[in-house]
Amino acid sequence: MYPFEDGQTFPKNHWYIAACSHEVGRALFERTILEERLVFYRKEDGTPVALDGICPHRNLPMVQGELEGDAVRCRYHGFRFDTDGRCTDIPSQPTVPSSFTTRAYPVLERWQWIWVWMGDPAKADPALLPDMAFCGLGAPGWRADSNGVMHLKARFSLLIDNLMDLSHIAFLHVQSIGKLERATVAAEMTEENGRVHVVRCTPNQPAEGFHRFLHPNCNGPVDLTMRSDFLGPGLINAGGPYSVMNGTGEPVGRLNFVHGFTPETLQTTHYFPAVARDFRLDDEGLSQALLGQERKVLAEDVPALEHVELSVQRLGNTRRELSVMADAGAMRVRRRLIEMMKAEAQ
Ligand code: FES
Ligand SMILES: [Fe+2]
Repeated sequence: MYPFEDGQTFPKNHWYIAACSHEVGRALFERTILEERLVFYRKEDGTPVALDGICPHRNLPMVQGELEGDAVRCRYHGFRFDTDGRCTDIPSQPTVPSSFTTRAYPVLERWQWIWVWMGDPAKADPALLPDMAFCGLGAPGWRADSNGVMHLKARFSLLIDNLMDLSHIAFLHVQSIGKLERATVAAEMTEENGRVHVVRCTPNQPAEGFHRFLHPNCNGPVDLTMRSDFLGPGLINAGGPYSVMNGTGEPVGRLNFVHGFTPETLQTTHYFPAVARDFRLDDEGLSQALLGQERKVLAEDVPALEHVELSVQRLGNTRRELSVMADAGAMRVRRRLIEMMKAEAQ
């Protein structure tokens, strides 16, 4: 499936963001993830649970059922399932065959997100969570704010292409943040431990515009960096500006637009944006302004990606794309994703 090889869809042995923490409580909550319908809720002690969203008896969606303590009872014939997926009650007969189970998915709650493991549960190691602290989420000395959840009618790989090549800022975001020079700064790509980094540096810039808004007391000149960091199949950090004083290298501040995303279906994506910064941590007004700025920028990306999705649905892999130097990071990530999917297929 574009842009991958035939039969390749998503890497599964990874933690994906399933929901914002506040979306899941003591009411059943349904979300489709990687083409599978899941039902989520919290146990009485607050721990999140994820089960197959379709009852294994006769396929009624479990979201229509009810919680009984930590278990969930299907509304159709009343089968009850525990948090580990075991069926513990069948009202129409006295015993429950031990083979009667539904699928339970490993879940974790980290920062303000609930993460789910869609692949082999035996491989669901919390140590494999993407490094959120790298983006400033839950990290000391940083403030991070969630921008909720959005829905994107485009496949997740298109969002990766978008975020790993920020040269599009100069054009797609010309109404909000775009500046032509940003497209012309050469990017450097590096890779380590499965992460791909694309970094653009512009030294000796006047402290004006958006930088002045962020750092009103900084008179510059400053060295500015913009970066894209692929941290996993569902987490990319779009950082910038990171700024230091020109000449001394004294840090001024780092700002990250963090993009969590999770395939919903082959052609749609759940989008969990956030903003993190390591300056003016107590400034609530700045947080709200940055969240608003992010929403404004995404309102430019989303329609473009949805148009691209319609194009690739028609064209698939039938024609060769023209790729340029600025695509290097996105192409590297595509290769990483293909390697992941090949490894899982073995
Ligand atoms: S469909 Fe769920 S108990 Fe029958
Ligand atoms: Fe964008």
